[in-house]
Amino acid sequence: MSSASTSPADRRTALIFGASGITGWAILRETLNYPSENEFARVIALVNRPIDRSELFLPASDKLTIASGVDLTKSVNEVAASLSTVQGIRDVTDVYFAGKRPVLPFTRMGARH
Ligand SMILES: NC(=O)c1ccc[n+]([C@@H]2O[C@H](COP(=O)([O-])OP(=O)(O)OC[C@H]3O[C@@H](n4cnc5c(N)ncnc54)[C@H](OP(=O)(O)O)[C@@H]3O)[C@@H](O)[C@H]2O)c1
Repeated sequence: MSSASTSPADRRTALIFGASGITGWAILRETLNYPSENEFARVIALVNRPIDRSELFLPASDKLTIASGVDLTKSVNEVAASLSTVQGIRDVTDVYFAGKRPVLPFTRMGARH
């Protein structure tokens, strides 16, 4: 009898805030390749302004989803509502934050950015 083996790593999903920026893009590139292209089953790149995939200069990968329109200067409820529409968001296991601005609670707490 044979069965498909699926390790926990096969099911990991990365979510990257600020994926079009210098920091987020580097993280995005690595999640697609390092230490192997199988490290994450899915990678979700979050940006505010829409961006075409060709502008990211990344290797072809059908596990990449680009989601735009998540504006971190909006209220927490609005950001949560935007995130809830992102395909695969409920499967996220790993979050990388490289967005330009902190979300509102941090701003209110007086964090510098
Ligand atoms: N650069 C470094 O060496 C370094 C080191 C440590 C920490 N950091 C921190 O990492 C963060 C990113 O730095 P960076 O140098 O990568 O900046 P960056 O190149 O300017 O990239 C900024 C990213 O944030 C996004 N962004 C801007 N305004 C946004 C908004 N209102 N809502 C959602 N996303 C927004 C941008 O997406 P859009 O294009 O869609 O606006 C872009 O993806 C900053 O908080 C910085 O302090 C940077």
